[in-house]
Amino acid sequence: LNAAPLRSALLEWYAGVHEARGMPWRKPYDPTLRPDNRAQRAYEVWISEIMLQQTQVATVIPYYNRWMERFPTIRDLAAADIDTVNALWKGLGYYSRAARLLQGAKKAMDELGGRLPDNAKDMEAQIPGIGRYSAGAICSIAYNERVPVLDGNVHRLMSRLLALYAPPKAKQSLNVLWAGSAAMVEGSERPGDVNQALIELGATVCKVRDPSCDSCPLQAWCRAYRHEHSSSKVPAAAR
Ligand code: ADE
Repeated sequence: LNAAPLRSALLEWYAGVHEARGMPWRKPYDPTLRPDNRAQRAYEVWISEIMLQQTQVATVIPYYNRWMERFPTIRDLAAADIDTVNALWKGLGYYSRAARLLQGAKKAMDELGGRLPDNAKDMEAQIPGIGRYSAGAICSIAYNERVPVLDGNVHRLMSRLLALYAPPKAKQSLNVLWAGSAAMVEGSERPGDVNQALIELGATVCKVRDPSCDSCPLQAWCRAYRHEHSSSKVPAAAR
């Protein structure tokens, strides 16, 4: 699959929408950032991604802003106690996420020279609460590393794009979907933007119900769309 034309269409679409929901953690990648600032960027994206794991964007924004006021750096977080952290988390739910953030910050300060690992593989291996998805999101956005993401949004989008008629959680399905997502960032100069564009497209256009196919930049390549809109009777994909 040559993903370059899909990627262009996707990024062009993203350029027009990426500021719409006012996400404070969404700053463009800056290749001139010095290492300390890159590490700071990773800290900020880490906090946002963990908050976004089980919570919607609109809910997360005020929590994220309060958190950054209270813990502007990973050093500030590492010095906190769990009660302070939990108090800031109050209302977000799934408190184990907050505990793991504190653990991760302490580990970074005590064992990793005061910063998060500088690549997805190490981040997944060394920081508690970071799986393949979060490591990919953080490292592509903060470091522009070419690593894919597959959250619920991208899973649904990829399933439709490829018209994957298979159990969504089966190992082989996940392999196919991760490979599709990887193809999107392969060779890209802006993997962080590609990944955020995929997440955004899944969340706002390729929705669970009533996807807005007519405003989708990937419609021309979408196999599910083609099946739905051709005369042959192929079942609807990935519902
Ligand atoms: N959900 C998870 N990560 C996200 C991001 N970077 N932007 C918007 N929604 C998200």
